[in-house]
Amino acid sequence: MDCRHIQFCVHESAFAETQDSFRQQHLPQLQALFEEMAFWARGRRLDDWTVALIHSKPIVTVWDQERLIGFARATSDGVYRATIWDVVIHSDYQGAGLGRKLVETVLMHPHVNRVERVYLMTTHQQPFYERIGFEVNSSTTMVLFNRPMVQESLRVADLAQSAVAEP
Ligand SMILES: CC(C)(COP(=O)(O)OP(=O)(O)OC[C@H]1O[C@@H](n2cnc3c(N)ncnc32)[C@H](O)[C@@H]1OP(=O)(O)O)[C@@H](O)C(=O)NCCC(=O)NCCS
Repeated sequence: MDCRHIQFCVHESAFAETQDSFRQQHLPQLQALFEEMAFWARGRRLDDWTVALIHSKPIVTVWDQERLIGFARATSDGVYRATIWDVVIHSDYQGAGLGRKLVETVLMHPHVNRVERVYLMTTHQQPFYERIGFEVNSSTTMVLFNRPMVQESLRVADLAQSAVAEP
């Protein structure tokens, strides 16, 4: 596949873009790409996507003319830890090196490239990430399937109050 016309776009200011042009023009395409290609992201609402994008940096999109064909994003503290999320290349374009370039573009971004450890979670694509330099790491992974009930039972307001009252 000749991919010379494929363009990678690094979104530096996710907040501004999600507020106007990105939100209006591209978010429906993003939602459709993930409905089709990403089993973990089916049913995501546009409003929730907006919130996720606002809190992500960098965001990288991949384009064939006006068609969104790839996406990845990261969250990072800039120094110690970063996590890469939602890596997708549309199946029409897979196997041509675009996924590697997509992840490498995230890794090269200044908000990620000096971070001590970069994490990601993947169900089936370990071999792909190993080609890029990631290693399987079973020793540090835990997950909380968060629910509002759990937050209520923590009584966050009470805890905050007692923390202030302590000497
Ligand atoms: C995973 C995904 C992003 C890979 O994108 P891609 O453009 O096909 O990958 P590339 O062509 O850049 O492949 C890079 C390298 O990884 C290898 N590779 C890619 N997918 C692979 C797989 N499933 N198993 C083994 N190797 C794989 C390629 O052979 C290539 O190797 P090379 O460096 O020796 O040439 C793409 O298949 C995808 O979007 N899948 C559906 C969504 C998904 O599962 N995303 C990951 C969620 S964590």
